[in-house]
Amino acid sequence: NGKATNVKLVLLGESAVGKSSLVLRFVNREYAENREPTIGAAFLTQKCHLNDRTIKFEIWDTAGQERFHSLAPMYYRCAQAAVVVYDITKSATLDKAKSWVKELQRQANQDIVIALVGNKLDLADEEESERQVQTEEAKAYAEEADLLFFETSAKSAHNVDAVFAAIAEKIPLE
Ligand code: GTP
Ligand code: MG
Repeated sequence: NGKATNVKLVLLGESAVGKSSLVLRFVNREYAENREPTIGAAFLTQKCHLNDRTIKFEIWDTAGQERFHSLAPMYYRCAQAAVVVYDITKSATLDKAKSWVKELQRQANQDIVIALVGNKLDLADEEESERQVQTEEAKAYAEEADLLFFETSAKSAHNVDAVFAAIAEKIPLE
């Protein structure tokens, strides 16, 4: 039918887990080492074609540094979808992700679609894996909390489009 469904999406998670890198991979098909931390938040859009529907994601990429925490409700309050990111090489970032999920489940839209994303999967590929969070552990938590779950690499692009496609699938038709 050609008409796009707009979906407001927010990214949350500890600083340096790779939120901006995931969004720039999804929107611009690019990746850069040593990105600067986000200040406040960044806004980007990207269309996604799914079956015969067009979804236009309106994405708020928030800043993970603690001093920006109080701004987050402004971005998640009217969001229909959230991507909560942790770094598979730092287990403390999964704890932070869990606290974001709790906050979303308490304060965001009742029917918000939430995806838990373990990023930097490329660092677990090598013989000397830097992995600290086991896939099964995060997956079990995601199932229990009723979240979509993916492990991604913004660097290699692995599973990045899949996260957004899975969210698009769960957004009801207007
Ligand atoms: P804040 O804006 O401070 O909240 O951080 P962020 O979550 O947006 O992290 P950002 O995307 O800026 O990435 C932080 C660092 O991790 C950068 O140096 C990236 O290059 C690196 N990085 C991001 N994604 C990946 C990945 O998939 N693999 C690897 N190896 N490094 C990554
Ligand atoms: Mg950022």
